[in-house]
Amino acid sequence: MLNGEKMLFSGMQATNVLTIGNYLGALRNFVKLADEYNCLFCVVDEHSITVRQDPAVLRKQARDLLTLYIAAGLDPEKNIIYYQSHVPAHAELAWILNCFTYMGELQRMTQFKDKSAKHADNINAGLFTYPVLMAADILLYQADVVPVGQDQMQHLEITRDIALRFNNIYGDVFTIPEAYIGKVGAKIQSLQDPSKKMSKSDENPNASVYMTDDRDTIIRKFRRAVTDSEACVRYSDDQPGIKNLITIYSCVSGKSPEEIEREFEGKGYGDFKSAVGEAVADTLAPIQLRQKELLADKAYVDGIIKTNAERAEYLALKTLRKVQKKIGFPERVR
Ligand code: TYM
Repeated sequence: MLNGEKMLFSGMQATNVLTIGNYLGALRNFVKLADEYNCLFCVVDEHSITVRQDPAVLRKQARDLLTLYIAAGLDPEKNIIYYQSHVPAHAELAWILNCFTYMGELQRMTQFKDKSAKHADNINAGLFTYPVLMAADILLYQADVVPVGQDQMQHLEITRDIALRFNNIYGDVFTIPEAYIGKVGAKIQSLQDPSKKMSKSDENPNASVYMTDDRDTIIRKFRRAVTDSEACVRYSDDQPGIKNLITIYSCVSGKSPEEIEREFEGKGYGDFKSAVGEAVADTLAPIQLRQKELLADKAYVDGIIKTNAERAEYLALKTLRKVQKKIGFPERVR
């Protein structure tokens, strides 16, 4: 069932449709690492409600994400693929860890600052303690490694701080996790403003390529991508738009930025942008097809959801019971 010794945990929010930023920065690395570790891939639906959600849409997007994990190449029998809300231990450990996390630490989180600026009418306590729930996700499974994009590094650091603080008081309870950040693709930028991260919630649909976009849409979005007037395909900080496109092309083609520079030497941006669009569309097509098949097979997916929640819960309860004992909660009488 489980194939290696070390544990890997990662999660994604079931909010909006995923972008190729999520895929290239995280999901693609999940698939690469899956053979080396005992893996859990979580659909973090509890994190999603820190921002108001339409219940029917959230439910649909959660299932879309769970099937996308599988469609992208994660085997649900070798890996544990499940919904966070199906394993109550996440929320229980999060409460305990809240009591080991300082307000000052949470106030420094950039994601909290950004999201509270964006949702000024709903700065709820969940948004503030979001990183504690994320720490609970990771520490529950004694994860050694956590593949994420660059924007989650700060949350990984606070997770390590919380774990170290807890271990200093109670002994070696938690494994201290390491982030895994891919060499290329850890920060995919917006196609319309290369100084900004590509984001699922961007209001401009041309800024992001979604995992559900069809071939024509993908190619059109790349053709419209903002570049510069240098007329030279070069991997340089002075050309952030082109650099971002080279990064994306490098991720999907496996070619290095230098090889790509050579491939497009003397060619115009039009040719280059079309090649990137084609390569991204080629990468997404089989994933989209497989996801469609999975979504049509309700019984199979429901079976996976049931057994994988049980497998996750079994592991989670081992850690939770240990933590409860260490902090002095009375043992249950059976
Ligand atoms: P989320 O759902 O915002 O994003 C999922 C993953 O995608 C990465 N990512 C990107 N990578 C490169 N370029 C981009 N433009 C880009 N946009 C997003 C993110 O870094 C992330 O790895 N809090 C997390 C979810 C979470 C989690 C966890 C992750 C909850 N618990 C435990 C790891 C472990 C989040 O909101 O990711």
